[in-house]
Amino acid sequence: MAWHSVAKTSDVTEGEVIGVEIEGTPIAIYNLDGEFFATHNVCTHAFALLSDGYVDDGKIECPLHQGIFDIRSGKAEEGPVDEDLQTFPVKVEGDALLIEI
Ligand code: FES
Repeated sequence: MAWHSVAKTSDVTEGEVIGVEIEGTPIAIYNLDGEFFATHNVCTHAFALLSDGYVDDGKIECPLHQGIFDIRSGKAEEGPVDEDLQTFPVKVEGDALLIEI
């Protein structure tokens, strides 16, 4: 496990999600009210990138079959998804976003 500087805080505007890759692992980074969170970027149902989905009220909706996950916990909540998303620790140093993976 190591911290990776992957983006700037200004790259992820409030209520949005971006996709990055860390050592081959696709990661989604979210900004919820100025707080940052990270999950695996691939839906646990089939292949879709959650960074192409929709953030609403602390949840991410998958763009393919509208499965819904809680962004903070990764918990699979609604739709055809029953496997939780992996989450990753995030910290901010200056304007840098770091993710531990
Ligand atoms: Fe995400 Fe089916 S691929 S809900």
